[in-house]
Amino acid sequence: MSDRPVPRRPRLRTTLTLLAASVAAGGLTLFVAPSADAATTLGASAAASGRYFGTAVAANKLSDSTYVGILNREFNSVTAENEMKIDATEPQQNQFTFGNADRIVNHAIAQGMKVRGHTLAWHSQQPGWMQGMEGTALRQAMLNHVTRVATNYRGKIDTWDVVNEAFADSGGGRRDSNLQRTGNDWIEAAFRAARAADPGAKLCYNDYNIDNWTWAKTQAAYTMVRDFKARGVPIDCVGLQSHFNSGSPYPSNYRTTLQSFAALGVDVQITELDIEGSGQTQATTYGNVVRDCLAVARCNGITVWGIRDTDSWRASGTPLLFDGNGNKKAAYTSTLDALNAGGTNPTTPPPTSPTVSPTPSPTGTTPPPSGAGCTATYTVNAWTGGFTASVKVTAGGSGVNGWAVTLTLPAGAAVTNAWNAQNSGTTGAVRFANVSYNGQIAAGSSTEFGFQGTGSGPTASPTCATS
Ligand code: G3I
Repeated sequence: MSDRPVPRRPRLRTTLTLLAASVAAGGLTLFVAPSADAATTLGASAAASGRYFGTAVAANKLSDSTYVGILNREFNSVTAENEMKIDATEPQQNQFTFGNADRIVNHAIAQGMKVRGHTLAWHSQQPGWMQGMEGTALRQAMLNHVTRVATNYRGKIDTWDVVNEAFADSGGGRRDSNLQRTGNDWIEAAFRAARAADPGAKLCYNDYNIDNWTWAKTQAAYTMVRDFKARGVPIDCVGLQSHFNSGSPYPSNYRTTLQSFAALGVDVQITELDIEGSGQTQATTYGNVVRDCLAVARCNGITVWGIRDTDSWRASGTPLLFDGNGNKKAAYTSTLDALNAGGTNPTTPPPTSPTVSPTPSPTGTTPPPSGAGCTATYTVNAWTGGFTASVKVTAGGSGVNGWAVTLTLPAGAAVTNAWNAQNSGTTGAVRFANVSYNGQIAAGSSTEFGFQGTGSGPTASPTCATS
């Protein structure tokens, strides 16, 4: 983890210092000086309550001295605005490019800043080769991407946005996408793969329009996180992007939303904050957002989505804390003041250890002799330290109504997650049974499942049994 020691200071008190009291023109004049321990930058002030204050960074702006000056002075966390996305890091399948992402990560580490990784699995900004994929091949490619990128940055990332924007804007369901069509379990599969690849990073689900507690999309994300926590899917945090504008305004129940997610046992992070507007109205909303976060112990960091208004993806809405010349806006002052007012210190437990969900044993049956009624073949995509395997199950002449494939892994190898099958055990001879929707295979037809693991991939022949 890129954790660095957080400077601690006593909770800030409002300190009124009477520098002089003079009777002048019939009145008492009070001079109010700032408290001696008031932090003067966003990052230092957030750190005083154990939090970070970050910004999105674009690699091509790291040569802009005004930009870098503000970045280094004010922020203690960064998120790559585009450079860690799938199209940037795997432009051709299995060819990984980390040049621009590394520029941001290296800059952050040199400055003692945390890094938020954004993002491992997303329907958007997929490279062309991935956009054209579906089904098992896409599932395998997605898990391979998660594993390879998270492994590459192991130890350098404080928090990963593992999955981004998976819920539909209305209706409370999942967003349709090629990833969603690989099966509803694609999100948890991605989280398990990320945990296996970088056990020290916090793993976030990140989305927009999950700020208003009454919105169906918020409830859908909440229900998923609750389910993940109940089933031991490794998730540590929820990222609320919090892009606020007239169509999606800051909601008065925002603090309720933060508290409700936190009550599930996850951190909450405000990950892409920007608030369209100007002047005191904008400043007040920034202050409200910061106060809401600081009121929730597990709201442990805030990231704004850019530095100057002109750096914003919504530049015309002037939604950030610095103007185009790099001057502090009223929104900056209200943000700093709200941070300096302090808040509940966050509890930041380390990520839970890698989890593989328990697999129920098949009810009351002994697997029939191997080889009866079905056959299995597989392909392996391996790299140093890990692999994904794709297994094809083919029914014999009379079709099957339930199957199980057993594959023996070499010493030191372990299954970290499987899709379209349920595994019993993770090492040695691992049994993969059909799930509810793929047990029936017509005579001569096939179905596919896959799994991912650490260590070397299987080399032994699989056995297939019907049930
Ligand atoms: O770099 C090219 C440039 O060479 C080219 O001339 C120009 C022409 O369009 O495009 C430039 O790339 C743009 C890139 O931003 C860098 O500025 C892309 O077109 C543009 O699509 C891309 O937009 C990014 C957007 O994600 C894409 O989905 C924004 O910068 C980025 O701020 C935004 O970030 C997302 C978060 O990842 C997820 N949440 C929402 C947020 C806002 O959309």
